[in-house]
Amino acid sequence: MAKKKWTAKDLPNLAGRTIIVTGASSGIGLVAARELCAHGARVILAVRDVDKGRDVAQDFVGDYEVRPLNLADLESIRAFAAEWTGELDVLINNAGIMMAPAFRTIDDFELHMGTNHLGPFALTNLLLPFITDRVVTVSSILHRRGRIHLEDLHFDSRPYNAMTAYQDSKLANLLFTLELQGRLSEKGSAVRAVAAHPGIARTNLVAHVHGVNGLVNSLSQRLCNDAQKGALPTLYAATQDIPGGSYVGPDGIGHLRGYPVIHKTSKRAMDADVARRLWDASAELTNTGQ
Ligand SMILES: NC(=O)c1ccc[n+]([C@@H]2O[C@H](COP(=O)([O-])OP(=O)(O)OC[C@H]3O[C@@H](n4cnc5c(N)ncnc54)[C@H](OP(=O)(O)O)[C@@H]3O)[C@@H](O)[C@H]2O)c1
Repeated sequence: MAKKKWTAKDLPNLAGRTIIVTGASSGIGLVAARELCAHGARVILAVRDVDKGRDVAQDFVGDYEVRPLNLADLESIRAFAAEWTGELDVLINNAGIMMAPAFRTIDDFELHMGTNHLGPFALTNLLLPFITDRVVTVSSILHRRGRIHLEDLHFDSRPYNAMTAYQDSKLANLLFTLELQGRLSEKGSAVRAVAAHPGIARTNLVAHVHGVNGLVNSLSQRLCNDAQKGALPTLYAATQDIPGGSYVGPDGIGHLRGYPVIHKTSKRAMDADVARRLWDASAELTNTGQ
């Protein structure tokens, strides 16, 4: 008999649980926040545009709050964390950008590395004392093509390439998960660090991909998940009893679409030495996680 596919209908009753979803104003984060809320969790939509966050959450059923968080700004991250009180069951590091033109964050980080990795790194470390269950970080199948240039994280001496910058930051997400899980286990903590990826899902993520947008859109209609299905690996990773360090993605061909299952990460994402050195560099850059 074929194994039953896991869907959002299989989410447990999440009453009493508090969950932060970053980037909950659009795409996968919005769907995940709505589903978690509908299943009883108290959900904090951590968004860079609070008006947009309030607007998209209008149809939410349940307990939610919208709070400002700009992951491309360490001051905003510190302010968000400083406001936090009480237990936090799950932090979902979902917010991300893809293929943006060359740009620096206010802290002078390359925009992808800053928004997709260094921001979530700082946020996680600042919130870690409150986290009781797990940290979920959303990566991508494109992490497989990433590389960590520890000597040049911000493209100071390499020619800038937007896809490379995205891929590197998504590999950083998995190396962060690997190292975080190692550190938690070493301390005997029951908190888990897990990762997810949506395959390819139709969201606003490709907004910067000028020229190929039309092609991506028409191909994606047939080949990809919609945002609803793209959010399933994140929801699974956030709520199911899976081992720390797990990487959850769609079960379909090429892992591009389908229903959530646990996958192996790539060899590059299992490099413990690079993971440790990336952690040290990120700790120094963000002054967190030392
Ligand atoms: N869609 C895919 O095919 C795909 C594939 C692999 C991985 N992913 C990953 O899935 C995650 C969600 O992406 P998505 O596809 O749902 O894209 P999306 O629709 O563009 O959503 C991205 C979210 O991140 C937020 N965000 C961007 N920069 C931010 C910042 N500086 N501070 C706080 N929030 C910020 C956006 O806020 P605004 O609403 O204000 O723009 C938005 O809410 C990302 O980590 C992405 O890398 C997606």
